[in-house]
Amino acid sequence: MTMHNYDYYVPTRLVFGKGRVSELPKYLEGRGKKVLLAYGGGSIKRLGLYDTLKDLLKDYEVFELPGIEPNPRIESVRKGVEMVKQENIDFIIAAGGGSVIDCVKNIACGARYDGDPWDLVMDASLIKGHVPFFAVLTLSATGSEYDGGGVITNPETNEKNALLGNIFPEVSIMDPEYTYSVTAWQTASGSADIMSHVFESYLVKDGNIFTDGICEAMLRTIVECTPKALEQPDDYEARAQLMMISSFGCCGLPAIGRTPSPWVCHGIEHEVSAFYDITHGAGLAILTPPLMRFWLTEETAPRFAQYGVRVFGLDPKNAPMDNAEEAIRKTAEFFKSIGLPGTLREVGIDSDEHFGEMADHIIAHWFGNFKDALRPLNRDDIIGILKAAL
Ligand code: NZQ
Ligand code: ZN
Repeated sequence: MTMHNYDYYVPTRLVFGKGRVSELPKYLEGRGKKVLLAYGGGSIKRLGLYDTLKDLLKDYEVFELPGIEPNPRIESVRKGVEMVKQENIDFIIAAGGGSVIDCVKNIACGARYDGDPWDLVMDASLIKGHVPFFAVLTLSATGSEYDGGGVITNPETNEKNALLGNIFPEVSIMDPEYTYSVTAWQTASGSADIMSHVFESYLVKDGNIFTDGICEAMLRTIVECTPKALEQPDDYEARAQLMMISSFGCCGLPAIGRTPSPWVCHGIEHEVSAFYDITHGAGLAILTPPLMRFWLTEETAPRFAQYGVRVFGLDPKNAPMDNAEEAIRKTAEFFKSIGLPGTLREVGIDSDEHFGEMADHIIAHWFGNFKDALRPLNRDDIIGILKAAL
């Protein structure tokens, strides 16, 4: 093991627990009087959160940006930027899942930039600051409530890229009760997403005792709590544990001191959802087992075996390769048991026609270099993993 240097910076306040949205006004003091309330397709209205927020914001002039779609599009960002600029809005509240929060991050930066907000997604050095924003999380998955990136799709070019500019919410309100209404599909996909964020940090060359433990505890939490939340959607403890680790899976904490990760599974999944608009977490669940199989060698077997022992309770006396193979099998079995697809065909992708283009795009634009992965991947390897997932 080699201890790597790290920078860890997350300036967001997490306000977690039942009913804590009532504390939002105190964090808004001194921020100005004009607010943009951004949300998705209506789940916050069904939850009663919309009415709660309107009530809490009664002393403010509230503008609204509804209809932010899953895998949010640059068009929604452009619309929001225009509103913020035209109305001189002081701050933004994102109420929803990762898509709403990501869209708001892009709006917040776009509002401080003179050109098209897509420029910022392609070149973070153009970001000139951002309008302050707050989040009220309703879905445990992406960690956008506690990280500095925001993923946006440009359907005209089939590109799905992350704005990577340390764009953090000031405060994220996290009430697990808001997630009771999340569908089984989104709950399972959210768990696969959190799990994948952990794998991105965990499955690298050098680990350390501390973050091996953090990653394994997060993975165990998912494996234990997801079935409970599916079985009983208003199980507060299960929903609370999932919401807690949603934030810590993607904030950089699981990665400290480890080999910097090129986030291979995410790089490939973003291409798949850019072309086919599939649910992010479901895409990750499909790609994870073939990627793990690609990575498994005599050299990497001990890491997979450790994962199998500590997360799935495999017998440490077994040969590392046996435990490693079993751990990968158990991973696929877990995704299936929570109702997620195991192949791209199951989400309607039955041809490899875009795989070459996807691989080229990753190599040209993804922030991480796949040569730095647990086992390096070239263009053919990326295509091979996509084909294995068909
Ligand atoms: O649009 P509404 O009506 O709100 O419905 C949403 C949406 O249909 C629904 N939902 C949210 N909260 C709900 C609820 N339904 C019932 N009850 C609730 N309490 O769930 C659906 C999916 O919402 P979405 O926000 O798209 O899901 P998620 O949080 O998984 O976000 C996915 C997006 O985040 C990106 C993904 O690529 C994808 O675009 N990611 C963002 C990351 C980040 N910022 O750090 C990292 C991730 O790896 C990921 O790439
Ligand atoms: Zn993710």
